[in-house]
Amino acid sequence: MRVLVTGGAGYIGSHTVIQLVAAGHDVLIVDNFSNAKPAVVHRLESITGVKLPVHAFDLRDADRTEHLFAHEQIDAVIHFAGLKAVGESMEQPLAYYENNLGSTFSLVRAMARHDITKLVFSSSATVYGHNAPVPMKEDFPTSATNPYGWTKVMVEQILRDVAVAQPRWRIALLRYFNPVGAHPSGTIGEDPSGIPNNLVPYISQVAVGRREKLRIFGDDYSTPDGTAVRDYIHVEDLAAGHVAALARLASTDRAVSTWNLGTGTGSSVFDVLHAFERAVGHDLPYEVVGRRAGDIAASYADPGRANEQLGWTATRSLDNMCADAWRWQSQNPDGYPDA
Ligand code: NAD
Ligand code: UFG
Repeated sequence: MRVLVTGGAGYIGSHTVIQLVAAGHDVLIVDNFSNAKPAVVHRLESITGVKLPVHAFDLRDADRTEHLFAHEQIDAVIHFAGLKAVGESMEQPLAYYENNLGSTFSLVRAMARHDITKLVFSSSATVYGHNAPVPMKEDFPTSATNPYGWTKVMVEQILRDVAVAQPRWRIALLRYFNPVGAHPSGTIGEDPSGIPNNLVPYISQVAVGRREKLRIFGDDYSTPDGTAVRDYIHVEDLAAGHVAALARLASTDRAVSTWNLGTGTGSSVFDVLHAFERAVGHDLPYEVVGRRAGDIAASYADPGRANEQLGWTATRSLDNMCADAWRWQSQNPDGYPDA
């Protein structure tokens, strides 16, 4: 298939592009580079050995989006583009609603006009809200605690409504748990701008000497070691889940399918820290501080539906995730180059 990957220069998109090409798909990318550097494209081309058409514009620009669909043959779309920082979304709610909803409106309108009806959407485990039991299942009610999370709840609902109106659509809502790790080459990885919000990028920057120590947000949760538990999934496994979902959309009768992409295993902050220390080969400095507002004690997936319906399972271990994250960080201490 010829697959348009929105946000294809970003963290998860870039890893997915590699696996789409490996699976025999033609890929084209749209990205406005608001949270990505052009250098990623050259690295993707050197890993895949193919020239990747990149369209650098903002998807909210409905005219340019329409122009792209009018001039390119596209069979399916994987929609990663969006803003993703929870804290920032609380400070700039309008920017999040405008970007994450606006880009989806312009994309889905252009798809509908050109009768392209296969869409894979990047949702998040955040749609399970604050009080969901674990493991989390796709039929749980959805809610959110911050504007970022609400954009995911809302886009899911918008896409379900599109599918009711136009039942020939085939839409996958993929709810990611906690993507970490990097391509095994160490040339593609996560490159957060500013101070990382997320655990593994933060530990990586401590390990490489860019931050003094990890601050562990709370050790008084009712979890085995008191620190919060998450379902960390290797970004390579996550990318494989997209290739599997795309294949499934070609054969399913359901207009909308919702799949958790997680391992089903919870790991604590200390589990991650110690796995990273094994990757680096020495202890890393940390201090325990108070809980971070909005955090929940435990989140992990029931990935049974994706395992069964996609024939997909996450296989990579936490040690593997940390070893790959460390290879990327140690080879690229400052992330991607600017030029
Ligand atoms: P990312 O920021 O690395 O990638 C998103 C890409 O989209 C960036 O390259 C950015 O430049 C681009 N982009 C943003 N707005 C755009 C617009 N209006 N037009 C064109 N391009 C635009 O993020 P990621 O971690 O790769 O996440 C990809 C998707 O997965 C996002 O939708 C995110 O919300 C979702 N998700 C991420 C996580 C996570 O922990 N990383 C968890 C759950 C869901
Ligand atoms: N943590 C620390 N110190 C840090 C960073 C994180 O102790 O410096 C802890 C957090 O308190 C949490 C765990 O490490 O217990 C994981 O935190 P992350 O920020 O890496 O991940 P979250 O589970 O909080 O958030 C992720 C995505 C969000 C998404 C959310 C729910 O980053 O986009 O999952 O799906 F909304």
